[in-house]
Amino acid sequence: MAKTAIKEKTAPATHEEKLAELREHMAEIKTRENPQSQLISILHKAQGLFGYLATSVMDEIAETMGIPTAHIWGVATFYHYFKLTPPGRYEIALCLGTACYVKGAAQILQAVKDELKIDVGGVTQDGLFSLAPARCLGACGLAPVAMIGEKIHGELTPKKIVQILKDYRRQVEKEK
Ligand code: FES
Repeated sequence: MAKTAIKEKTAPATHEEKLAELREHMAEIKTRENPQSQLISILHKAQGLFGYLATSVMDEIAETMGIPTAHIWGVATFYHYFKLTPPGRYEIALCLGTACYVKGAAQILQAVKDELKIDVGGVTQDGLFSLAPARCLGACGLAPVAMIGEKIHGELTPKKIVQILKDYRRQVEKEK
């Protein structure tokens, strides 16, 4: 059977490449009507590329789009979705959707907070984990669910999530 080659789009790797892609996005938006109203879309793009909104990136957006930096800060801090600090190496998206909530997501959240000594939106001191709430992750059958990095972990209990976090730590230690 012939194999089908899947061509993946290569993600920009360096800071300069990411900046170039962001500039390209802004240039395209500037061709539209009322480009300044597209600020959210630009911030989404920036966060998708860099993982968070650094001050320097917001300054770049301000300058290119002719929008005051204070306004950009206002928007970025208003929406919880936007991150102003770099996320941890593993981002924990803990589902607080209905199916997960009725199956004990609040207890899972508490267990993660206690284990990592961070709050929602926080990053561990070693930069390994960050914690963010999530709406339905589309895996309700496995509730309660958390996504750590790219991996879904389901049927969680407070004990199980603590063990999973310890396993990640152990794995990272081994890589050193
Ligand atoms: S509500 Fe949690 S995965 Fe759907």
